[in-house]
Amino acid sequence: MVSKPRLLVTRKLSPEVEERAAHDYDAIFNPDDQVFTSSELVAACQQVDAVLPCHSEMFTANVIAALPERLRVIANHSVGVDHIDLSAAAARGIIVTNTPDVLSDATAEIAILCMLGAARRGAEGNRLLRENRWASWSPSFMVGRQVTGKRFGILGMGRVGQVAAARARGFDMEIHYHNRQRLPPDQEEGAIWHETIESLVAASDVLSLHCPATPDTIGVIDAERLDLMPRGAILVNTARGSLVDEDALCDALQSGHLFAAGLDVFRTEPGGNLRLSALENVFVLPHIGSATFETRIAMGFRALDNLDAVFAGCDAPDRVA
Ligand code: DGY
Repeated sequence: MVSKPRLLVTRKLSPEVEERAAHDYDAIFNPDDQVFTSSELVAACQQVDAVLPCHSEMFTANVIAALPERLRVIANHSVGVDHIDLSAAAARGIIVTNTPDVLSDATAEIAILCMLGAARRGAEGNRLLRENRWASWSPSFMVGRQVTGKRFGILGMGRVGQVAAARARGFDMEIHYHNRQRLPPDQEEGAIWHETIESLVAASDVLSLHCPATPDTIGVIDAERLDLMPRGAILVNTARGSLVDEDALCDALQSGHLFAAGLDVFRTEPGGNLRLSALENVFVLPHIGSATFETRIAMGFRALDNLDAVFAGCDAPDRVA
């Protein structure tokens, strides 16, 4: 009998996904869901042919250099791959895959939640009730911003950005976007393309970030670009915390230049940014954009589809390195 490839699954996944992995692979699971340190990750990878990690495992150049020869593939349970040094993996001939498409709906839902939570002062209202401080009501109480009919700016009109645009159209919002490449008309669906990020941010009543974190995009929303946003605008980030200069964002929120922010991602995770979380006009979530039952199963299955392809000697459908 041919032995099954040995697979390390670094985090606790959906039961359906673990069941399929256990059926098709000689799988090692992490039932207590402990987060591996870099040295634990390297040690755990020594006896495996493949690893199925999440964005919580850092595959730096040093970690990749210490992986065993037998390890052929890193099949991520994430669309983002900024936790992996892709060139180091490519140099060692290790295949890297991700899970596009399957989390676009869930992430776009969270972007809309962040937009509405920020615009309608969701965090502030929530705190008032939870801390038993709701003492009065009047027409001037907790007045927020209406998003209907406003301009929804999208930085990164990829898969998630396009679904977010579709959801925002449900609020009659006018869609603006910046991408390096303008989309063809059938994908643009009337959205207004901006050749520069500066032009996009200046035209956004709500600016929603949907680009990956790469050396080109880290810190892309800095003090200057925040300053270009219209007074009273809202920033939404469901992509990666590293896209934003968080100190500059705090300043823009505290000065009143921005009305609010809705954030699902932070430069430091877990934990977030306490200066931002303390502000009344910031609606925060703990990186749960793709955290729905349906999407977690789909992500796990997509990662397994990639593994299956590699071990069947085929091209992995979602190869990124
Ligand atoms: C992703 O897939 O990149 C999400 O952020 C969850 O890891």
